[in-house]
Amino acid sequence: MATPCRIRRLLVLLAAVAVAASHPAHEFCAAAGGGGGGAGGCGGGGDGTRILIKGGTMVNAHRAEEADVYIEDGVVVAVRPNIPVGDDNVKVIDATGKYVMPGGIDPHTHLEMEFMGTVTIDDFYSGHAAALAGGTTMHIDFVIPVNGNLTAGLESYKHKAEKSAMDYGFHMAITKWNDEVSREMEVMVKEHGINSFKFFMAYKGSLMVTDDLLLQGLQKCKSLGALAMVHAENGDAVAEGQQRMIDLGITGPEGHALSRPPVLEGEATSRAIRLAKFVNTPLYVVHVMSTDAMEEIAKAKREGQRVIGEPVVSGLVLDDSWLWDPDFATASKYVMSPPIREAGHNKALQAALSSGILQLVGTDHCTFNSTQKAFGSDDFRKIPNGVNGKP
Ligand SMILES: *[C@@H]1O[C@H](CO)[C@@H](O)[C@H](O)[C@H]1NC(C)=O
Ligand SMILES: *[C@@H]1O[C@H](CO)[C@@H](O)[C@H](O)[C@H]1NC(C)=O
Repeated sequence: MATPCRIRRLLVLLAAVAVAASHPAHEFCAAAGGGGGGAGGCGGGGDGTRILIKGGTMVNAHRAEEADVYIEDGVVVAVRPNIPVGDDNVKVIDATGKYVMPGGIDPHTHLEMEFMGTVTIDDFYSGHAAALAGGTTMHIDFVIPVNGNLTAGLESYKHKAEKSAMDYGFHMAITKWNDEVSREMEVMVKEHGINSFKFFMAYKGSLMVTDDLLLQGLQKCKSLGALAMVHAENGDAVAEGQQRMIDLGITGPEGHALSRPPVLEGEATSRAIRLAKFVNTPLYVVHVMSTDAMEEIAKAKREGQRVIGEPVVSGLVLDDSWLWDPDFATASKYVMSPPIREAGHNKALQAALSSGILQLVGTDHCTFNSTQKAFGSDDFRKIPNGVNGKP
């Protein structure tokens, strides 16, 4: 996964635990036996190129320990207990009673994405501000090509990202196929460091790719050493399911989930996994929302296939009951594709994540303005008797 921007900010996060109030700076300086203790606090603040995070519980992938973290020019150079201050130019940050952990990386976002006649409301500034507030310090967004033109898509996303406030990288979506797209994929990998390409098996008539295109894309990814990613839902069947809901007059947010049940996610996940096996290339399944899809991944992994499954926060913790809220503004906030499933899927996904069947977590942050007419709030729930309300 690419990181075309320069890593220019420190990936260190101070997460407050139990104790909210920090110790006065002078107390700490005395304890550490060093530092200037001037108006700027311990160590006089320094010039910002050398930072010492003292007194916290340092959390890493392998363990948590009481340790100080010393950073020079944005690089962590020492992690051990009781690192002495000893220099006025070191900026000391008191982390007593707090966890010190690496910033989170969100592998799945859609900031300022144009879609279905509107644009997601968080851009590369507001999205970054929200992410940083929660401790996520880097994300990977998806470049959407402009009329299938990858270079034009990248130019557009670089422009969107000019207001960025944190580190980011790009995956790229492949929405159509021809020799030019194939050639440009190579340019993306070799010249722009974008080496993960996403294929949408859903969104018939806009982003959806056919099996034919998916196969060619998988082969191209294999030849480039790039990672193929899929949004796995059967787009043809989803279109059929949507027509069913419209025929029944179910036009509220609950109709969204009813139109694209887990079986369609399971089918597409299994199909993508098998095609990737046929091509013999690794596969990354984004936003695994159902037990159906997760079990296909588990099975492939048991058989030794390289498949990466990414659950998202909403799928891990929510259930579809929100979609039945009588208030449109509330219910519509829970619409996403694949949909948030019935209770039970979330617990199964959590278990799969802790056992390693699923490997990493994204947000699929892709927020739309639910008060916009494009989302049909005007004709919300003209539902015939007996259909409104969850059975
Ligand atoms: C794709 O977009 C780039 C940049 O806007 C442009 O230079 C190039 O000619 C376009 N390619 C095609 C095939 O239209
Ligand atoms: C959402 O759309 C409505 C109607 O177009 C507009 O008044 C409102 O400002 C928008 N909200 C945001 C956060 O963009």
